[in-house]
Amino acid sequence: MARLFDPWTVRKVTARNRICVSPMCQYATPDGTAGPWHMVHLGSRAVGGAGIVFVEATAVSPEGRITPMDLGIWNETQAQALAPIVAFMEDQGAVPAIQIAHAGRKASTAPPFEGGGGLGPDRGGWTTLGPSPVPFGRLAPPRSMESSDLDRVREEFCQGALRALSAGFKVLEIHMAHGYLLHTFLSPLANHRTDIYGGSLPNRMRFPLEVARAVRKVWPESYPLWVRISGTDWVEGGFDPDQSVVLAKALSREGVDVIDCSSGGLVPEARIPVGPGYQTPIAARIRQEAGMPTVTVGMITDPVQAEHVLVTGQADGVSLAREMLRDPYWPLHAARRLGQEIPWPVRYERASHG
Ligand SMILES: Cc1cc2nc3c(=O)[nH]c(=O)nc-3n(C[C@H](O)[C@H](O)[C@H](O)COP(=O)(O)O)c2cc1C
Repeated sequence: MARLFDPWTVRKVTARNRICVSPMCQYATPDGTAGPWHMVHLGSRAVGGAGIVFVEATAVSPEGRITPMDLGIWNETQAQALAPIVAFMEDQGAVPAIQIAHAGRKASTAPPFEGGGGLGPDRGGWTTLGPSPVPFGRLAPPRSMESSDLDRVREEFCQGALRALSAGFKVLEIHMAHGYLLHTFLSPLANHRTDIYGGSLPNRMRFPLEVARAVRKVWPESYPLWVRISGTDWVEGGFDPDQSVVLAKALSREGVDVIDCSSGGLVPEARIPVGPGYQTPIAARIRQEAGMPTVTVGMITDPVQAEHVLVTGQADGVSLAREMLRDPYWPLHAARRLGQEIPWPVRYERASHG
């Protein structure tokens, strides 16, 4: 049997294979509430055979949105709108998963297809939050978070987790990557605090770990909790793989089950050696040194390449983003390429041979 199609059990949740649809912002709602686009986008990837389908970075508060068109999970209406999508994905055999997020200093921007860039108050923008008033590129500097802000945001993550549970999700991922709020606490390039949340690595990890601990308390024992990290900022003096191993071990002690290994996003000027599987060594290192299950993401496009990652023990699962946009049926095609018989959706069976 191809490793890619080996079922994967973490806690009490079993995915039919090791293929994940990576979270992908759609910027497709005016009020954070999922609609027909999300049903079709996520539903078709569940029909396509992925083991775990992630809903995009979903904001735990209005100020935690990247753009005014982000999905949100700060109210009951938003949770209820996700519930039928979750049910459909599960009905199609995929594990429904969601990434909860706070964009921090990269919030209050226009969607990429509207040109991106910071939104001032005149264009519906808002004041962003960060560990320190250090801006991302040309965006406005964030407001430095006070202790009451830390309490509130920690609680918003918990409330988001509870709403995700009420919507029926079985896997929850906390977004600590790509330069968003929790990543800015981790990186010395964005965190210049002089209190217990800044300076040394244990201090920079403190707030992200507090969030993980608080979320784990409300997320059921039987369901997996994942964290996505940027394993390196790709900049001298930034967060790096050595620190990631320490972070992964600390997250494991908080009851986090899987580290989803991405990279970058903290500073615009980082030089990233993008290429096939370019982030996989980070997943391999964390898996080896922190002894934790990992998922690798980043330019994984070919079934043989994905199988190689698993067979060589570099990660426990693979996550695909852009290739899944090109081909929502990638898992069905991958099975054929690897000579693996897998069930097709019954309504599509007549197309499964030929
Ligand atoms: C349209 C789009 C939206 C994305 N949105 C998110 C997101 O919501 N959360 C996240 O962690 N990464 C996001 N990413 C990054 C992907 O999840 C993935 O890590 C990255 O694209 C590399 O994988 P790939 O080479 O398979 O595309 C996004 C990527 C794309 C292309």
